Amino acid sequence: MNELDIRTPSEAALTDRRNFIRFLAASPVLTPTAMSALVSALAAGVSGEAAAQSYDVLRAPQQKAVDGIITAPEQALNVFDFEPAAKKALPPAHYGYLASGVDGDATLRLNHEAFDEIAIRVRRLIDVRKVDTSVTLFGQTYPTPILLAPVSSQGAFHPEAEAAVARAAKVTGNGVILSTVGSTSIEDVTEARGAPVWYMLYPTDDWSVTEALVKRAEAAGAPAIVLTVDRQGGRNTETLFRFRRDDTRDCKGCHAGGFANEVSRKPMFDDLDVSKVTNLYGTGMTWDFVDRLRKIVKGKLVLKGIVTREDTEIALKHGVDAIIVSNHGGRAEESLEPTIRALPEVVAAANGQIPILIDGGFRRGTDVLKALALGASAVCVGRPYCWGLAAFGEPGVAAVLAILQREFVTIMKQVGATKLSEITKDSVIVRS
Ligand SMILES: Cc1cc2nc3c(=O)[nH]c(=O)nc-3n(C[C@H](O)[C@H](O)[C@H](O)COP(=O)(O)O)c2cc1C
Repeated sequence: MNELDIRTPSEAALTDRRNFIRFLAASPVLTPTAMSALVSALAAGVSGEAAAQSYDVLRAPQQKAVDGIITAPEQALNVFDFEPAAKKALPPAHYGYLASGVDGDATLRLNHEAFDEIAIRVRRLIDVRKVDTSVTLFGQTYPTPILLAPVSSQGAFHPEAEAAVARAAKVTGNGVILSTVGSTSIEDVTEARGAPVWYMLYPTDDWSVTEALVKRAEAAGAPAIVLTVDRQGGRNTETLFRFRRDDTRDCKGCHAGGFANEVSRKPMFDDLDVSKVTNLYGTGMTWDFVDRLRKIVKGKLVLKGIVTREDTEIALKHGVDAIIVSNHGGRAEESLEPTIRALPEVVAAANGQIPILIDGGFRRGTDVLKALALGASAVCVGRPYCWGLAAFGEPGVAAVLAILQREFVTIMKQVGATKLSEITKDSVIVRS
């Protein structure tokens, strides 16, 4: 502050901090240090600790939104703010791909809306100045229980695709799960994340391809192979089809058509003979397939897409190491069963024997807390980080992750939890 500066010290600190964040976010190339600074600033809230006691209005970021759409990551008040920005940045068909659920998108909507059926029981007069949000999964400790769900074809959202996402995740320390049909190889994503990532497997219906994919992922250090089991029935992605109608580009320019072409252009299939592959999802898979896979997976085997007590009990018998409760973000079937509602029966069936993770509709720190209270070990987010990626590239992803983490820490403090194990079923009330 100079002599002519008439702002109070906390106002000056706030404005300087905002300008600093804006400067960082506008930088074409963010150095790791600059990115770290951006993330810490967002994670602390624009206010920072010093202004935490100031009036709320001083803590709000200045909104410079154009037509209600943010134009820089630091303008976001929450992760929802990134969706319109992503929509604006993307061609209609690519936005439709990201936004779509199936049929009328009701399951997609319910995934998030179901969090409104769960209230939070807050506790007072507990010293929560220091909060530890770390979680250990398969021997690896992450500073946050928020992981990145596998999302295919991120090149459709931003040229830097999964590499930008992994670089952002490195700063906040989020675990990353890479899709088989990602636009980036596991070696490049691992390098960008600076640590091994989990590998989500679409096995195809050719076992030699399955084996090669697992081998390559394990050679890159993947501690877990995540078999997605919820795409067996085909699907009706109406929202995607609707947006596609508005896209004037010639989709065939990039999507030449034919399964082999679509798959083989993904880097995880480089050098593999996919001529015998007729489907990506291993249609016809049964628990025998899980047994077969279990025999070749050297590390941990995770099933993604389990939503019932019965399947959890069977999974335990087949040596599965963890489950991700998921309905593919409402993109698998129109079940009308939000994942947060399915979570308790899966947790009860697992009976503490394996970690249970969950995804679907996580948009707020309070959503994360609710899932942990109902017995999840960690949660995954899908669309929100892709909105950040599509809108602003790496800084957008970093901002989404920082906001979720900031909100999560805030609500942890309000329930009086200083570490994840202090978030219990007594932290929530489930309204039936
Ligand atoms: C565009 C898109 C592509 C996806 N691709 C995959 C995939 O390749 N493999 C997979 O297991 N899940 C995939 N999913 C599902 C996510 O892993 C996750 O289950 C879902 O996005 C979570 O819901 P949320 O988007 O509401 O956070 C995809 C989701 C979206 C939105």
